[in-house]
Amino acid sequence: MAEKPVLWLPRRVSDATVARARRDYEVILNEADTPGTADEIILMSASVDAMMPCHSEHFTAEVVSRLDPRLKIVANHSVGVDHCDLPALSAKGIAVTNTPDVLSDATAELAMLLMLGAARHAVRGDRLMRTGEWDSWSPSFMVGTQVTGARLGIVGMGRVGQAFAAKARGFDMEVHYFNRTRLSPDQENGAIYHESIDSLLPLAEFLSLHCPATPETVDLMNAERIAALPDGAVLVNSARGALVNENALLHAIETRKLAAAGLDCFKTEPGGNPNFATHENIFMLPHIGSATSKTRDAMGFRALDNLDAFFAGKTPRDLL
Ligand code: DGY
Repeated sequence: MAEKPVLWLPRRVSDATVARARRDYEVILNEADTPGTADEIILMSASVDAMMPCHSEHFTAEVVSRLDPRLKIVANHSVGVDHCDLPALSAKGIAVTNTPDVLSDATAELAMLLMLGAARHAVRGDRLMRTGEWDSWSPSFMVGTQVTGARLGIVGMGRVGQAFAAKARGFDMEVHYFNRTRLSPDQENGAIYHESIDSLLPLAEFLSLHCPATPETVDLMNAERIAALPDGAVLVNSARGALVNENALLHAIETRKLAAAGLDCFKTEPGGNPNFATHENIFMLPHIGSATSKTRDAMGFRALDNLDAFFAGKTPRDLL
């Protein structure tokens, strides 16, 4: 019987994923579940045929230049691939795949939570209840921003953006979007297309980011673009921290330009931005958009499907 390919799992993926991986591969686990460092990635590349990293393992040009030729495929356990220098990996002949589709609903769900939590003072309300500080009530107490019927701007109308739009329709939101290309009428499902982000921003009472982090989208939401939003808008980011200039966001929160923000992604991860913590109108979660059991299994299985195809000599479905 042919030897099984050797696969490194640098992070603790779901039990079902590990079980299936062990059936078909010689698996090396990182029991400590610590992010794979550059040195570990380079060292491990000499002993494995494949890796299944997450966005916490960084395949920079420098790391890629030092990878051993034994490594044939990086089957990411993530849809985002901004942690991979794709041209460098391609030049080295290493196949790269990701896990689109399967996490769209979980991530859109979390974006909805961020939007609602930011709009309705979830942080302050939760604190008042936990600390026993809730001692009064009045019609002017904790008045937030209504989501139902409001205008929503979506930046990036890929799979997650479309899943978020579908959920927002349940709140009767008027959906506008900016995307590199216009969707088909079926996919648009009534959403209004903007050829430029500039025409979208002034309409967006709520703005939700769903585009990838690329050199072009770093600091997409800078001071100028945040200023173009309506006063009292709510900004939601469940995509990547790189998309938002955090100083500009902080300024907009401090000056009340923005009523609130809901964030699952930060420039520095793990850790986040400690300057955000003093503002209860910034509702924050620690990059858990796709963190449901169902979705984690689906992500692991999709990565394994890609590996199986690759080692069977076929083109993996999600080859980048
Ligand atoms: C993704 O899949 O890109 C999520 O952000 C988790 O890594």
